[in-house]
Amino acid sequence: MSKTTQPGAASKRRTKAIAPAPPAVAPARARAALSIRAVRHEDLDAVIEMDAMVTGIHKRDYWNSLYRRYAEAVATGHHFLVATADDEVIGFVIGEVRDWEFGSQPCGWVFAIDVRPDARLMGAATQLLQGICQRFRRAGVSKVRTLLARENTLILSFFRSQGMMISPFIPLEMDLEQ
Ligand SMILES: CC(C)(COP(=O)(O)OP(=O)(O)OC[C@H]1O[C@@H](n2cnc3c(N)ncnc32)[C@H](O)[C@@H]1OP(=O)(O)O)[C@@H](O)C(=O)NCCC(=O)NCCS
Repeated sequence: MSKTTQPGAASKRRTKAIAPAPPAVAPARARAALSIRAVRHEDLDAVIEMDAMVTGIHKRDYWNSLYRRYAEAVATGHHFLVATADDEVIGFVIGEVRDWEFGSQPCGWVFAIDVRPDARLMGAATQLLQGICQRFRRAGVSKVRTLLARENTLILSFFRSQGMMISPFIPLEMDLEQ
């Protein structure tokens, strides 16, 4: 026997008070004025902590070396920026201008972008990307590229939201035999 709907049921459903939609996921940290600036040496602890939250590994030597290569080499197109809220570092972005690599015109590359889990969804990564793109433009390049892990849909959603599209390049790799 097919199921039928009672005559009054649909209209009852239509007139039933609709519960207000739950608020959009609010960041744990209250929205504070964000600012973007070049990294300073005293920011490194916060950056290392943030990276460890995402990757589970504290890599102090790696970050010290990145700091030397990027923070101290702005003149050569290397950029290491942080986002701060209430004077606290809540995110970072690292990238550089590469000349004629893979046969392409000089372009900006973004290698890493990260925002503290409790400070996400308040525009920090957007501002970090805008900050580094602004520096790339000043260096005379008109294209920005990045590379991401296929399964990292979070970072893919972020870059797509910023207007990034599949590039004409494809990454290739192979195992090196001992
Ligand atoms: C990806 C990441 C950098 C985004 O930082 P964020 O400060 O939260 O990003 P924003 O607030 O600027 O978000 C901009 C847009 O990105 C997209 N986005 C961000 N987080 C998202 C999520 N969880 N789900 C879907 N889309 C998302 C949305 O389109 C968002 O715009 P909207 O808020 O208007 O919808 C942050 O989630 C992060 O650090 N993730 C882990 C780091 C990582 O995997 N890095 C890769 C190694 S480089």
